[in-house]
Amino acid sequence: MIVTIDGPSGAGKSTVAKKLAQTLGFRYLDTGAMYRVLVLSAIRAEIRWENEEALVENCRNTEFHVEGDSIWLGDENVSNEIRHPEISKQIWHVADHVRIRELMVERQRSIASFGNYVCEGRDQGTVVFPKAERKVFLTASANERAKRRQVELAEKGVDLSLVEIEEEQNERDLHDYNRPVGRLVKADDAVEVVTDGMSFEQVVHELVMIVRGSR
Ligand code: DC
Repeated sequence: MIVTIDGPSGAGKSTVAKKLAQTLGFRYLDTGAMYRVLVLSAIRAEIRWENEEALVENCRNTEFHVEGDSIWLGDENVSNEIRHPEISKQIWHVADHVRIRELMVERQRSIASFGNYVCEGRDQGTVVFPKAERKVFLTASANERAKRRQVELAEKGVDLSLVEIEEEQNERDLHDYNRPVGRLVKADDAVEVVTDGMSFEQVVHELVMIVRGSR
């Protein structure tokens, strides 16, 4: 069974998706981490962002694997490094690219082809798994999302003001909602959950109910 969770950045998708997967005994696929690792490997390889051919090649050649909430670049665990704001800032160079997305979609389908998965991202219910058994569109107001992101980053030792976070968030929303492929849109058959004012436990409970068909 495939459960998809899509929504804008900062809606709390990752923590909720991870907990949902754990509760259901499913595996968890963080597709954002897959785009992030490509940015990291492009930076390390000193590829210029305007060199699209090199970026596509980098996507083909980058050896990475995802394991629950960890991501490995070769044999190096880069799970923390890929969360750095500089990676988020440059993400659109790979995430807005048609051919890179095609390669990533293929890879995501192949990863989730065996077993039960909670797949989290922007295009999981629309493009990658249009026939998923359960689809959730998880969102929250811009202000709420920025506040949560601030707490999340602070826990990782990154201190940013709310204004800085909102600027980055607006920039990412702009790309996520408008990119030519894989743009962020609620699938017609997804259940929308707006998490303003809900606790983490309440959100997870709501999602468990949705997966079990009680909502
Ligand atoms: O979920 P996240 O913030 O870690 O995702 C990082 C970026 O990757 C985000 O700005 C949008 C992009 N992304 C995407 O385009 N498609 C996905 N399926 C997942 C993430």
